[in-house]
Amino acid sequence: MNAFDNKINRRDTGSVKWDFMEQKLGLEGTDLLPMWVSDYDFQAPQQVLNRLTQDISHGVFGYSERQEDYYQAAINWFKTQHDIVIKKEWITSIHGVLPGIAMALQMLTKVNDQVVIQSPGYGSFRKIIELNDRRVLNNPLIESDGHYRLDLAHLEDCFASGAKALIFCNPHNPTGRAWTEQEITKVAELCQKYRVWLISDEIWSDLVLAPNAFYSSLKLPKALTDKLIVATAASKTFGLSSLRISNFIIPNEELKTQFVRRLDAHGMDCFNNLSMSAATTAYQECEAWLAELKQYLQSNIETLSKFLKAELPHIRFTKPEATYLAWLDCRAMQLSDTELEQKLISAGIVPSIGCGFGEEGSGFIRLNLGCPAEVLEGALLGLKAALNNSK
Ligand SMILES: Cc1ncc(COP(=O)(O)O)c(C=O)c1O
Repeated sequence: MNAFDNKINRRDTGSVKWDFMEQKLGLEGTDLLPMWVSDYDFQAPQQVLNRLTQDISHGVFGYSERQEDYYQAAINWFKTQHDIVIKKEWITSIHGVLPGIAMALQMLTKVNDQVVIQSPGYGSFRKIIELNDRRVLNNPLIESDGHYRLDLAHLEDCFASGAKALIFCNPHNPTGRAWTEQEITKVAELCQKYRVWLISDEIWSDLVLAPNAFYSSLKLPKALTDKLIVATAASKTFGLSSLRISNFIIPNEELKTQFVRRLDAHGMDCFNNLSMSAATTAYQECEAWLAELKQYLQSNIETLSKFLKAELPHIRFTKPEATYLAWLDCRAMQLSDTELEQKLISAGIVPSIGCGFGEEGSGFIRLNLGCPAEVLEGALLGLKAALNNSK
């Protein structure tokens, strides 16, 4: 049996996805199948579990710092996985990608400044911009026949109107686009032209699916990287999200120093040793695990795709180039987002509703396919009941 087939009960573990549907979504019922929050229902790699067990048995949890092997493991990972050459001096870490982006916004922009995001897009970007009293400037993606592309002319208008920063999601949640070198270069050139900070969230970079390729902003020519901050993490890749760990990679020395000073200013220059150990081991030893996982995810994506074609042809699904998220266009059903959600919940499925990704997401749902194939098979029955065209 494939290890990813193993169904693990996550209820009563404090899991946001499984235990907090009532608190966060107002949904009651223990028979609901959560396909919303983007984390896996798989165990982390055995090597990581062994390392954590070893650290826990040691039993001393005093203050800790990043060790040299963490830096080397990360540098090596980026080189072997993505052919990116990163210098140790560029790397720092913080307790998650979102906290780091929020801190970067506080550092680089002022109250009421405009920050550009692309919609549909990861909802928490909007949240951290607004909660930090900055303003969202939306640069909607252009969709045609289920394929998304950037609106570069409109992006230029946003920058010309005075936006100070762009949060760029590559690969893109929820559409699954892995932006190309050409697209990223154009974005970076515009940032350079208008002196806009480019915050590139590359948390999904390890989950680009063959035959697609990942292009990191860190590969841009030096002339385009002086206002660049890149966020990555072992968390999304290896299922370690609650360990709260991410890498911030900043080629501009002055900017990096400023960022680290901010960490210190918040008393965040101290690290969770278990998280560091887990990330280091994952980068050092779990390449094969990731390769197997990606095959498994591809197979889930294929299962969903075939099912939709056969059973629900009015639901449009373009396979993601990256991520394990399925972005389903349900607009042909002509339902409001609330009606769509209700239908799915009545059929026992809890998706992320598209309007949570901005108004351009209205009429869509996002499904998390990071689950055992058998669970997905069950979900398909729910989808069929909910999304068949008879009202
Ligand atoms: C694009 C993107 N950025 C950031 C995050 C969250 O990162 P973290 O848990 O490290 O704050 C997510 C989680 O789904 C995400 O999709």
